[in-house]
Amino acid sequence: MTIDQINFENKRALIRVDFNVPLDENYKVTDATRIEAAKDTIIHVLEHGGSVILMSHLGRPKNKEEEFSLSHVIAKASDILGVQVQFVEDCKGELAEKAANDLEPGEVLLLENLRYYSEETAGDTSFAKALSQLGDVYINDAFGTAHRAHASTAVIAQFFEEKCFGLLMNREMVSLDKVLKTPERPLVAILGGAKVSSKITVIENILTKVDDLIIAGGMAYTFIKAQG
Ligand code: 3PG
Repeated sequence: MTIDQINFENKRALIRVDFNVPLDENYKVTDATRIEAAKDTIIHVLEHGGSVILMSHLGRPKNKEEEFSLSHVIAKASDILGVQVQFVEDCKGELAEKAANDLEPGEVLLLENLRYYSEETAGDTSFAKALSQLGDVYINDAFGTAHRAHASTAVIAQFFEEKCFGLLMNREMVSLDKVLKTPERPLVAILGGAKVSSKITVIENILTKVDDLIIAGGMAYTFIKAQG
């Protein structure tokens, strides 16, 4: 099922986005690329008569630390979407369900950090089911988190009849497919990021396909260290 095949009229779309954005010491968003990248999918639902419930993680909280609250993202998201984003201080349960039920078509609700519950990263089925109560349709547009089999990214899909990937996810898949299957040569891959651990399998997978691989960002240090 693709996003174009879904009728969003008067429906609540529960969208898993990746709003894991960097914040400064005053909790201001310093790079909104990921929010901008999710915009098309959100606007698509709104323009087709639906309302939107956004769920995301932010950082890797151990408890419910304030620094990881998605409330810090409200202003920037409202700005980018051109809609005042509502916020609820939980991602499941009575509070979240009431806020989701009260949504009118054209409105957007942002849930509190999914990772305030350890069940999210554990891929807990009951937790995924509780999240699923919030929407009529499920959309996964969290490309930056697509490599994680977490409750909100993978497990939750089984609870929806109507579900699809978002426009961001589709764009990235088409680009990846093109570059990896029918590339123009020479093909150079540039890989960056802070955490090499989650990228080892990606590196192994593309090594045979690319002519050159450039490692950048924080993960480059791991390689420099390994090389002595
Ligand atoms: C990222 O920034 O790499 C993604 O949002 C995933 O975050 P994670 O590595 O904490 O799962």
